[in-house]
Amino acid sequence: MNKPLRKAIFPVAGMGTRFLPATKATPKEMLPIVDKPLIQYAVEEAIEAGFTEMIFITSTTKRPIEDHFDSNFELETKLAAQKKSELLDIVQNILPKGISCAYVRQHEALGLGHAVLCAEPLINDEPFAVILADDLIKTKPRNCLKKMVETFQDFHHSILAVEAVPQDQTQRYGVVKPKENAQQDFFVIDDIVEKPKPQEAPSNLGVVGRYLLTPRIFHYLKTLPRGAGGEYQLTDAIAALLKEEPVGAMKIPSKRFDCGSKIGYLEATIAYGLAHPQLKDEFVEILNNWQSYHH
Ligand code: UTP
Repeated sequence: MNKPLRKAIFPVAGMGTRFLPATKATPKEMLPIVDKPLIQYAVEEAIEAGFTEMIFITSTTKRPIEDHFDSNFELETKLAAQKKSELLDIVQNILPKGISCAYVRQHEALGLGHAVLCAEPLINDEPFAVILADDLIKTKPRNCLKKMVETFQDFHHSILAVEAVPQDQTQRYGVVKPKENAQQDFFVIDDIVEKPKPQEAPSNLGVVGRYLLTPRIFHYLKTLPRGAGGEYQLTDAIAALLKEEPVGAMKIPSKRFDCGSKIGYLEATIAYGLAHPQLKDEFVEILNNWQSYHH
């Protein structure tokens, strides 16, 4: 029987070195875009796509993520006493009813493949999603993960989100080799290579932080040798999986911001600031006047 997609893994155990010193004692995933941390955008995307069980792969310094998705009795009591009902609502609805959270420690940052393997005891034999919160993908015009789930319901095999990346940046991504017509939004892939040099990349389609995987991936994660950067790479396990089962790629339907990099983070802050109902008018004015402020 085809099992439903209910579980989403959020690997948040990386060290976020590109954001030091901000990430020395604070998780990268708690950095806010305007007023919401990156991890909350990712969880909201997953809930909208129908996932109900959130599994976080954490490490030292990541406790604030647990606290963020837990209730805060003292804060809620205070907001209620002050009759700040709008804020109380925001705080109480970070996690809607019926959604559960579990936390698994990755004791050493041995790579994304190893992080996903840490969730195996909680997955059983079901397909699941992997979501990297530092790839922030706008849910409008379409929720990327939801579109992947709809496609999964037709094919029941693993699906990776991909995006055309500049040819000189292939070394930052897992890059797919399409089996079929790569002009389409969805296609089956023949191969995937982690961080290829531009001249060796099989296409310009880079994998971004959304994956739907069948549980068969765990078989390959367990036997994986270390790959690029000496880490256990999820990409290498997918390369082995696709020799046994079809693996598809879906072009993302909305704009993505690479919030693991400072420049992508700044771009996202501008985009979400300009879309924020209470802030946008004032923010547009500030940006328009920016040139004159500084001359
Ligand atoms: P990154 O390659 O972005 O690494 O990991 P990082 O440590 O977060 O950031 P930098 O490069 O040092 O600045 C991609 C995703 O995989 C998770 C990270 O948390 C991030 O979401 N990850 C990576 C793990 O959970 N465990 C690992 O061992 C490695």
